[in-house]
Amino acid sequence: MAIFFLVVGMEIKFEVLRGELSSPRRLALPIVAADLNISKAEVHGAISFYHDFRTAPAGEHVLKICRAEACQSMGAERLVARARERHGLKMGETTADGRLTLEAVYCLGNCALSPAAMLDGELIGRFDAARLDAIVEDRAA
Ligand code: FES
Repeated sequence: MAIFFLVVGMEIKFEVLRGELSSPRRLALPIVAADLNISKAEVHGAISFYHDFRTAPAGEHVLKICRAEACQSMGAERLVARARERHGLKMGETTADGRLTLEAVYCLGNCALSPAAMLDGELIGRFDAARLDAIVEDRAA
């Protein structure tokens, strides 16, 4: 239960700080730690463990590609490589125009339709290169 309140508290703090500070990654961490009376290492540990925490704003659209075992076995890593090589978009990065963020996720519960992805919260099964290209070209153009 304590970790839940810590996580919720930190999320609220980051939401507030994100709008007020120009560099939330550097400036917010000690403020959050002091406010919650925990160490900066504990804040960093929680932020880096939970994938949905961000230290910088996400793009307008967020594409998550599942990299867990079932999706790996069905070609997810080829899609990750395609995003990097064809579109210059690495995992964890946002396009320069802020339109699309690409993130890794580890199982979306859609293993039977792997490789799986999620675009703006909408689950995509049987994700393939054509769909990846269409999303990147549409959302990042
Ligand atoms: S391993 Fe990708 S959805 Fe489960």
